[in-house]
Amino acid sequence: MDKSGKTKRISSQAVRTAYTVVALSHLLLVLASESADITDHLGIALPGCPDSCHGVPIPYPFGIGSSCCLSEDFEVSCNATTNETYTPYLFGTAAILNISILLGQARINYPVSSQCYNSTTKQVEYNRNYAMLYGSSFRFNDNKNKFMVIGCDTLAFANFSDGQDYNWVGCASRCSSLEGLTNGSCSGLGCCQTVIPKGTTVIGVDFDPSYNNSDDVHSFGRCGYAMLMEDDGFMFDTTYITTDDLKGQKMPLVIDWAIGNTTCDVAQNNRSSYVCISYNSVCLNSGPGYLCNCSDGYQGNPYLKDGCQGLSL
Ligand SMILES: *[C@@H]1O[C@H](CO)[C@@H](O)[C@H](O)[C@H]1NC(C)=O
Ligand SMILES: *[C@@H]1O[C@H](CO)[C@@H](O)[C@H](O)[C@H]1NC(C)=O
Ligand SMILES: *[C@@H]1O[C@H](CO)[C@@H](O)[C@H](O)[C@H]1NC(C)=O
Ligand SMILES: *[C@@H]1O[C@H](CO)[C@@H](O)[C@H](O)[C@H]1NC(C)=O
Ligand SMILES: *[C@@H]1O[C@H](CO)[C@@H](O)[C@H](O)[C@H]1NC(C)=O
Ligand SMILES: *[C@@H]1O[C@H](CO)[C@@H](O)[C@H](O)[C@H]1NC(C)=O
Ligand SMILES: *[C@@H]1O[C@H](CO)[C@@H](O)[C@H](O)[C@H]1NC(C)=O
Ligand SMILES: *[C@@H]1O[C@H](CO)[C@@H](O)[C@H](O)[C@H]1NC(C)=O
Ligand SMILES: *[C@@H]1O[C@H](CO)[C@@H](O)[C@H](O)[C@H]1NC(C)=O
Ligand SMILES: *[C@@H]1O[C@H](CO)[C@@H](O)[C@H](O)[C@H]1NC(C)=O
Repeated sequence: MDKSGKTKRISSQAVRTAYTVVALSHLLLVLASESADITDHLGIALPGCPDSCHGVPIPYPFGIGSSCCLSEDFEVSCNATTNETYTPYLFGTAAILNISILLGQARINYPVSSQCYNSTTKQVEYNRNYAMLYGSSFRFNDNKNKFMVIGCDTLAFANFSDGQDYNWVGCASRCSSLEGLTNGSCSGLGCCQTVIPKGTTVIGVDFDPSYNNSDDVHSFGRCGYAMLMEDDGFMFDTTYITTDDLKGQKMPLVIDWAIGNTTCDVAQNNRSSYVCISYNSVCLNSGPGYLCNCSDGYQGNPYLKDGCQGLSL
């Protein structure tokens, strides 16, 4: 990964292949959102730093601007970059929905990949996303996210890597008419989902070009979609098949974060780089890397001096 490439994006608007590269920097956005963390009303940011962006709490080690965060990975920007704006961004462009200090997780918006058959040109327009977190403090959460494929003539693959090996999983959906399609969970016609492996830091979406809505299917739906997204709360809607509505959309994705790439034991040996600096804090291995937590009976932000406060009963 290019460490200096804060916003690296290659996008080709070619009709046949619109192709987006999402480096540790380029994920995208949509809505601002509710968020709640028990650290909300305690000091959660570095002294002198803003602790929220348009209602979304930004707890340290995350911070708005380079002097308010632990490292470049955790830098959040809070300014208008597009029309959808005034939400906090990570990597320059991934809208942050919420950040959890306790879980070492963040929810961001991540773009849907699509393939749409154009019956006039008889060509397929692709938009395939690729995301690279390798070498950063982040990885895709394998428990809360699923690789989803939506369509009636769609076979898509998530290709991924842990930085070394290259692997993939796929999911397919075929429906020859709208009959039998129902709104609800992703479990049946029109929607297929599968899990991704633990430790995934690079993920790309590929479509099998021979499943492309070019037969009768395009009379009721011309697009197929694929994306890694948070499973919880997802509801399949038949309009995803019958309209182009999902095209260009973003969906919530959970990413895990951790500090550094060593265990607590090793990290604690270097007091100047160890970040669980609050009194009454503990270190938790979250391999690779570690997280901090407040000791039993305390709550707050263990990454800040005096961040963990006794619970007043
Ligand atoms: C957004 O704000 C950050 C500081 O928070 C700044 O570094 C960056 O250049 C700004 N981006 C734009 C597009 O204005
Ligand atoms: C910006 O968003 C507003 C409301 O969401 C919409 O009415 C407007 O057309 C958008 N402007 C552009 C340039 O997309
Ligand atoms: C973000 O907020 C949602 C809803 O408020 C909650 O279900 C989820 O657990 C939170 N996720 C994180 C990472 O904080
Ligand atoms: C199909 O392609 C033609 C020619 O590029 C374009 O004008 C038309 O808008 C496309 N149809 C759809 C539904 O995107
Ligand atoms: C599913 O819900 C949408 C509205 O979101 C509605 O237009 C559609 O008719 C529903 N489909 C079925 C099969 O009930
Ligand atoms: C993985 O997906 C990306 C995005 O579509 C693509 O550029 C890349 O070639 C794929 N890799 C393999 C090995 O299929
Ligand atoms: C679409 O799929 C059909 C059937 O597999 C295949 O014959 C055709 O070449 C494909 N079209 C495009 C544009 O990929
Ligand atoms: C661990 O992190 C250090 C400093 O960020 C980096 O130089 C090193 O390559 C990393 N080691 C591994 C195995 O990722
Ligand atoms: C301890 O951490 C500091 C700050 O990151 C670093 O400059 C120093 O080299 C580290 N010392 C050792 C012994 O690793
Ligand atoms: C962190 O501390 C809180 C409060 O003591 C506790 O409820 C929670 O289970 C701890 N989290 C982990 C991962 O140990």
